[in-house]
Amino acid sequence: MNLETTAYQAILSLVNAVEPRVGAAIGQELTDQRASLKLIASENYASLTTLLTMGTWLSDKYAEGTIGHRFYAGCRNVDTVEAVAAEHARELFGADHAYAQPHSGIDANLVAYWAILSQRIEMPSLEEMGAKTVNDLDEDDWNALRILLGNQKVMGMALDAGGHLTHGFRHNISGKMFIQHSYGTDPATGLIDYDALAAQVKEFKPLILVAGYSAYPRRVNFARMREIADSVGATLMSDMSHFAGLVAGKVFTGDDDPVPFSDVVTTTTHKSLRGPRGGLVMCTSEYADAVDRGCPMVLGGPLGHVMAAKAVALAEARQPSFADYAARVAANAKSLAAGLMKRGVKLVTDGTDNHLCLLDISTSFGLTGRQAENALLDAGIVTNRNSVPRDPNGAWYTSGIRIGTPALTTRGLDEADFDKVAGLIVEALKATKPTTTPDGSASKAKYVIDAGVADRVHHEAEELLAGHPLYPELTLV
Ligand SMILES: Cc1ncc(COP(=O)(O)O)c(C=O)c1O
Repeated sequence: MNLETTAYQAILSLVNAVEPRVGAAIGQELTDQRASLKLIASENYASLTTLLTMGTWLSDKYAEGTIGHRFYAGCRNVDTVEAVAAEHARELFGADHAYAQPHSGIDANLVAYWAILSQRIEMPSLEEMGAKTVNDLDEDDWNALRILLGNQKVMGMALDAGGHLTHGFRHNISGKMFIQHSYGTDPATGLIDYDALAAQVKEFKPLILVAGYSAYPRRVNFARMREIADSVGATLMSDMSHFAGLVAGKVFTGDDDPVPFSDVVTTTTHKSLRGPRGGLVMCTSEYADAVDRGCPMVLGGPLGHVMAAKAVALAEARQPSFADYAARVAANAKSLAAGLMKRGVKLVTDGTDNHLCLLDISTSFGLTGRQAENALLDAGIVTNRNSVPRDPNGAWYTSGIRIGTPALTTRGLDEADFDKVAGLIVEALKATKPTTTPDGSASKAKYVIDAGVADRVHHEAEELLAGHPLYPELTLV
């Protein structure tokens, strides 16, 4: 029996002895993941080494503070794993400074926002007020500073143009703590119109310009974003959560690489980067001290076990095989897009040059995103619905489906396989129709899919997956 199988059989036996329902759910999740044609653009499969690294006693240690400067005794091993994770991140991405503590992407963005506010607003204000720290301020000065911190402007990409909710969406804390405007995309092309953005930024004058996206199928010109930020003295914060793997694998270089052009770069570690669930912040040396104050500013105790897994995954991403993986992710996305378009599907921006495609489902099939998401699931294909720019169906029903290649590329699917995947998607959606509501209009939620087609597509999806087993080294009984 190989090491991985031995390790996971032991874990499951131990868990089953205490709470069999949890053991069963862990086992079932592997079965489900193995059986699903996973096209969710933000998901991946981390290596078993990365996953196993998370199951250690580093989780038992409190280590608030930063490397070598903790509020608890006995943190030398957490210091080591945090320092190794940060070192790999700096080397991999060419960043001046890296901070490995954020528990997720949303945390990384909060750390970044507050580091920028601290550096740009709090520190200069303290100096003006003749104080060293906020504890030196009297009540009046403290309230004045709090009002100033709460009165700053941010500009990020609109949610329906592909931005993320942490980029200023009103239902997220980023929309509540800033005065916020967002930028969209050109209605004709679906692309960022940099001239229009430059004019909007000059007018609004944000303190922070946020670049990056969750559902934009194109590259961003970060050199241009830098120029636009500089035109009003804004801090450029780039969120590469979705495409960090393509940066790490050197698919995105030059103007496509956010790191050389941004003051602060945030990312998740679990999407195209293929690490454990978590976040990272990188920055220039100007923002390093402020970012390192993420705890206690935003975070509590760091997750030592997850930082260790980040270090392992980042070490993996520095191997030449990861660059090969990243190149295949991008090539597969091109093949998927071409396969969909040649079968008549309208894609937002008419293609892709990253890892994801955004299908205009309403235009192509007369369905909402919600209907398409469920119909595809009936046919064994896992996707998520997503707004398209200026979506007439809103953020709940939506008119789009977002699909991406990172996960299935990890399983080894190639360009020919992704052409087949495109065929399966089109076959399933062509066989799906909205039902009619009592008033005679088309339902936005209910649909019927031809059962024979759903079964056939499901079967073909299973056959495709059978040729590319997930975690093939793992044989659990
Ligand atoms: C661009 C972007 N930023 C941040 C996040 C938040 O990441 P997490 O779910 O780890 O908090 C996401 C995840 O969907 C994302 O796409």
